[in-house]
Amino acid sequence: MTQDLSQLAQEILRRNDRGGYTVPTHGLYPYQWNWDSAFVALGFAEFDRDRAWQEIETLISGQWEDGMIPHIIFHKDDPGYFPGPSVWATGKTPATSGITQPPVLATIVRKLWEDEGADPANPRMRALYQACVKSHRWFHTYRDPLGNGLVMVTHNWETGRDNSSEWDDALARVDTSGVGTYQRRDTGHVDAAMRPTAVEYDRYVAILQFGRKSGWNHREIADHGPFRMLDVGMSMELLRANRDLLVLAQALGDTAVVAELEARITLSEAGMDWLWHEEVGAYCSRDVTTGESSGLVTNASFLAFYAGVGSPAQRRRLLAALDRMTGSATYLVPSLEAGSRAYDHKRYWRGPIWLVVSYMVGQGLAEAGHEDWAERIRTDSRKLIELSGFYESFSPETGAGSGGPDFSWTAAMWLAWCGK
Ligand code: DGY
Repeated sequence: MTQDLSQLAQEILRRNDRGGYTVPTHGLYPYQWNWDSAFVALGFAEFDRDRAWQEIETLISGQWEDGMIPHIIFHKDDPGYFPGPSVWATGKTPATSGITQPPVLATIVRKLWEDEGADPANPRMRALYQACVKSHRWFHTYRDPLGNGLVMVTHNWETGRDNSSEWDDALARVDTSGVGTYQRRDTGHVDAAMRPTAVEYDRYVAILQFGRKSGWNHREIADHGPFRMLDVGMSMELLRANRDLLVLAQALGDTAVVAELEARITLSEAGMDWLWHEEVGAYCSRDVTTGESSGLVTNASFLAFYAGVGSPAQRRRLLAALDRMTGSATYLVPSLEAGSRAYDHKRYWRGPIWLVVSYMVGQGLAEAGHEDWAERIRTDSRKLIELSGFYESFSPETGAGSGGPDFSWTAAMWLAWCGK
């Protein structure tokens, strides 16, 4: 069975290959997505190392002059997706969206490089290192409004956890009166019960329109945009990525960047407590405008181990929250704790399991010495694919697949992690 599934996983990556980049799945997501490509590179690395590097190099071809790596690169137009390049209207070549996505690239570049012997002269690593430095500086310049090393997002799509309940209150304040009419395409590809609602989509589009009206001025969007959240996921991922980038900077003897990253890491380590919710006993996303915490435990809360933060007491409470999840979930790690408002085991990021987040959570737990939890998550992830195939996400209750089928990053996670 492992042999067949590994074969199938490779075939999915090959089939979703559009020539130097991979679409997350045919139909629903017909372009190159930022963090999808990063994880997909780990899958390719298991059988075609050249193609793994190329996936990231193609992504970087869309990096903006200011350093931002966009969340979508529209290499060729596809009428089956909304909002496409003409809606974003960023004026870039190649055409891109105007927002970013989780900064996991440096972590993946480090892994590709180390797996090939960690040669500081590796030219592919060196080029991508420069792109990562620029991208991390963009985050530090535009997305750290409190100066505490956390990451503010200006669109919920940036988090990758699009419709997580963490964003509900902030999204409810978004003015949708000027949105106008548009035709959604996602619900033509998959069951609408697995996707965000119409009201939610209007808000997503309204935030996009604010950015477009500003001429994609990142200062203006960061200071005055309609959605300003400190995201626990991106904050943890950037801290982790800064640690990995530091290893590359040290190998290259880039002393100025070493000092810069060390300072950022210290800042973020201390800043992370701003997201800690003592009553809930977890790190939770927080609204910059109102200062309010979501108070919700999501799969991103457990990225604390991956980021290397938390006192022994905080870590004990996080493990207790994970343990609590096993009460209602047959499989770990749900994207939202059951019983939370808006929990829905089928709807996108309001319950379903996403293997890339499970992978990062599992990695972090293993590194922190919690091998038993890491193994439980890996085994559950493996069972989900064995049961349902390579879906976008999975019900934590039944294990049924949700969202799109033949998903690139799910195939990649099988090859690089849970199917090994
Ligand atoms: C979508 O279209 O749902 C994507 O997740 C946006 O990035």
